[in-house]
This record gives sequence, structure tokens and C-alpha cells, in this order.
Amino acid sequence: MSRLVLGIETSCDDTSVAVLEDGVRLRSHLIAAQDLHELYGGVVPELAARHHLEQIDLVVDLALQRASLGLGDLDGVAVTYGPGLVGPLLVGLQAAKGIAWGRSLPLLAVNHLEGHLRSVFLEHGDVPAPSVSLVASGGHTGLYLLSEDGVLLRLARTRDDAAGEAFDKVAKLLGLGYPGGPVVDRLATTGNPLAIPFAPPRMSDGSLDFSFSGFKTAVLRYAQAHRLDRDLHVQAADAAAPDQETRDLLASFQSSVVEFMVNRLMTVAEDHGARAVCLSGGVACNSLLRRRVEEEARRRGLAAFTVSRALAVDNAAMIAEVGRLKYLRGEHAPMSLNADPGLEL
Ligand code: KG4
Ligand code: ZN
Repeated sequence: MSRLVLGIETSCDDTSVAVLEDGVRLRSHLIAAQDLHELYGGVVPELAARHHLEQIDLVVDLALQRASLGLGDLDGVAVTYGPGLVGPLLVGLQAAKGIAWGRSLPLLAVNHLEGHLRSVFLEHGDVPAPSVSLVASGGHTGLYLLSEDGVLLRLARTRDDAAGEAFDKVAKLLGLGYPGGPVVDRLATTGNPLAIPFAPPRMSDGSLDFSFSGFKTAVLRYAQAHRLDRDLHVQAADAAAPDQETRDLLASFQSSVVEFMVNRLMTVAEDHGARAVCLSGGVACNSLLRRRVEEEARRRGLAAFTVSRALAVDNAAMIAEVGRLKYLRGEHAPMSLNADPGLEL
């Protein structure tokens, strides 16, 4: 008999709902974006929560309609309970609890980061174990080992900013809008990545943790010295066509950050005898990062699995997939489940 799990994701600014059948077939998958945050240069939590509230019931209805299913056909309801913004998380939780309570369905509590990590497995099926995953998003960046017996272990995390956050902050200080990742990715293709040298951070304790704030500060210093930093509201007119020096700065920043992440990923993979490396999270959309992970994995004889852009960004399909695994293990959450904005993996 097939299993149908409804997934709900509202941890940041996208309202996403999916219906997943047996972890292999996405019966429907919707992401309602909230473009208004661009106006503010970042996500405004209160506005995000209000928009989730306005959209959530509609998105759930539409997802079921597209899957040609009713609430009565579902076997479980999976929902992100952290990490993320508390207001937005609460909206998703309330919706999920309402459905689970009303239909006597198991409530499946999902860690958003595990969702990103498992998105690769949802997409590619069997990944050889052990594998090391780089999960890089706007709020988190870490390396995780998945052993042959399915145990998940965090091997490194960021000590300050997340990788996506560094892209967002750099774009903001250069007046290039929000979110920064896609715009830096695009503009960097026309810049010289060797123009400005950036030194990768070194941990004094020899740990393989990440740190990205130094890259951002180096960009800020360079931009100030060369008068490239601009106020967000002044730049709109020329944001689409920054000068060559800005493009060189972006290309150099992106290349340094990417090489830093790829280096860490490959070092950790080799240290742990991994057979595969995986890439997920919003930053996995980055063209250079995708290419470099694949190149370096090939050079080392490792299999590489990068999630497609559609499942790299925040989405409910990955939440439904983790929920499905919890359902199979009988891990049902209580109705008292609360949002946990600082949840770790
Ligand atoms: O996973 P995600 O959608 O949301 C969080 O859980 O944070 O990731 C969003 C982050 C943002 O910081 C955004 O700038 C970054 O992913 N991002 C990118 C690219 N596309 C999105 N970063 C670098 N290059 C990209 N092409
Ligand atoms: Zn995310």
C-alpha cells in the first residue's frame, strides 16, 4: 500500500506544501514566494508570518487538488519546527496540527536542516555510504557524515555567518539587492576571480569549522577603499550593470568562498573514507560551487550528488521526505510540539 505524506515548510519567507508518495513520487509541490522582502533588503519576520498566514490554507488546498487527493487520503503530516523564524514556523505548525488533529493523523516533526540534507537522497535515491554532505543555506552551513548504518554526525559548522548570509551581506553592501546569492552568481561570470586575493580563515584550534565573516569584512574594506559600497536605495538604477571593478570583486569573493567550502568538504570526505559527497541548501544553486564540487570529487574518485536547484531552495518536498522516514520509524510528535527557532542538527 502506498504512503502519502503532506509536507509543510514555512521556516523563512516561502510558503511551501508538497504531497509525497512513498518517497519516490511527488504528487504535488508548490512554493509560494514572498517577493516583497526584496524591498527591505532582507526578510522581515512579521511580514513573512502574516503572508504565510494568508497563504497557507490556499497552498494546502491547491497542493491536494493538484495531487487529486483529499485530506482523508493522507497517512501523515510533516512540518518544519525549526530552525527558522519563530512567527513563520508557528504558522506552519498550526496548520499541520489542525490537519493532523482533525483527521487523527500522525504529526511528523522535521528539522529544516535534515530536510536540506535529505533532499539529495530524495532526488538521487541511493547514495553510497559513508557520505559527507555540505549543507549551505542562508542560515546554516555545516558538514555531515552519514555512516553505513544510517547514523548522522555533524563534523563541522560555521562559527559566524552562514555561506548564504555572506553572499547576501556582500550583495547588500554593494547595493545589489536581496537575495544576494543569485545576483553575485550571475555578475561573477563577467568578473576576474583572480583580481583580488582573499585569504581563507584558519582556525587556531585546527578545527575544520567554517567561518565566512572574514570574507565579508574583506569585501567591505576593499569596497570602502575603492568607493564601491553603495546605499541600498540609491543603487536601484545601476544595480543591473555594476562596473568592472565591482564584478572583479564579486568574482574574487565568490571564487574564494567556493574554494574554501570545497576544500573543507574534500578534506573531511577523505579523512572519513567517504565514498560520496553531497551538496544541498540554497547555496547549492551556485553554479561555480556545483561545478567545483563535481570536478574535485571526480579527481578524487568520489561520487558527487548535487541537488537540483528546484530542491536546493527551501521546499516542502524535502520536509515530506524526512517526515516519511519518521513515519516509517513510528516517530510521532505530540500535539504540544512547539517551534524551535535555534534547533540544530
Ligand atoms: O536554503 P535557502 O533557500 O534558505 C535558508 O534555509 O536559508 O537558502 C537561501 C540562501 C540565501 O542566502 C541565498 O542568497 C543563497 O541561498 N543562494 C545562493 C544562490 N542562490 C541562492 N548563494 C549563492 N549562489 C546562488 N546562486
Ligand atoms: Zn533552508
